[in-house]
Amino acid sequence: MITSTQKLEIQKRILSWYAEMGRNDLPWRQTDNLYHILISEIMLQQTNVPKVRERYVSFLEKFPDVNALANAKQSDVLRAWQGLGYNRRALNLHKCAKILHSKYDEKVPENVDTLLTLPGIGPYTSNAILIFGKNHDLATIDVNVERVIRRLHGNKNWKKLKSPSDKIKQFVPKGHSREWHEALMDFASAICTKRKAKCLICPLKDFCKSFPDPSDFTKPKNREVGREENGKHVPRRIFRGRIIELLRERRCDLTQIGVTIKSDWNDISDKKWLKEILDNLEKEGMIERIRQKWKLK
Ligand code: ADE
Repeated sequence: MITSTQKLEIQKRILSWYAEMGRNDLPWRQTDNLYHILISEIMLQQTNVPKVRERYVSFLEKFPDVNALANAKQSDVLRAWQGLGYNRRALNLHKCAKILHSKYDEKVPENVDTLLTLPGIGPYTSNAILIFGKNHDLATIDVNVERVIRRLHGNKNWKKLKSPSDKIKQFVPKGHSREWHEALMDFASAICTKRKAKCLICPLKDFCKSFPDPSDFTKPKNREVGREENGKHVPRRIFRGRIIELLRERRCDLTQIGVTIKSDWNDISDKKWLKEILDNLEKEGMIERIRQKWKLK
């Protein structure tokens, strides 16, 4: 059990660690513009901070507000998403902007339930937008935030908890949710890392039930659907990403796509597999086929 006095001390230590060591120069932390925060949070869902840092500013230069994004061509939005991966997010973001434009006076709603109705926005992102944009007294939980609080309690105690998410929520200091979440995210990425945590220099070590060795219980990962390439298993999403990357530049037929996206392309055995991926991308509205060539939609 962590007592309430300990909890206060933990909050104090995390926040003072953040004041000294935090990444307070991240561009999405310099704004309360909810549209900008929405863009950053969608990017950060599945892409790491250094990569998002590279792309965020140029994306906003192209699409500075809801109106600009809502009126953009889908293929331009997909082009601006280059390098971020998981391209479906770009389509959802585009749809989102269209809805904000037509239904919400071009504003991002300041309400979790309304945010949840928008494409690509789930419980994590809806809360994150209002925390980072408006400092609302909410909690949002990703694997990194969860890891810190879980290790503090000790993995064994954690497994016995009925509602671990409530425990995490109880840690958010009232009136400081933005700072708290920024601090925890930075702390998780610099000190309480997934592998080789820096326990010896951790400011929480005297409270942490996992000190000095947070040997986590890790679930074995299910292997993603994919295909062999030069004897190595490559997830299908990587091939999908390579296809979009290629079609950002030019229109191609099936074989041109095949030889570019798969280094051991076999014109006989790989054709059916590739055709299926292209059909799916087409169904999802990302690409279209004109005669025998594919292009971005
Ligand atoms: N700052 C604001 N949101 C963030 C996120 N999702 N990841 C890392 N830093 C952030």
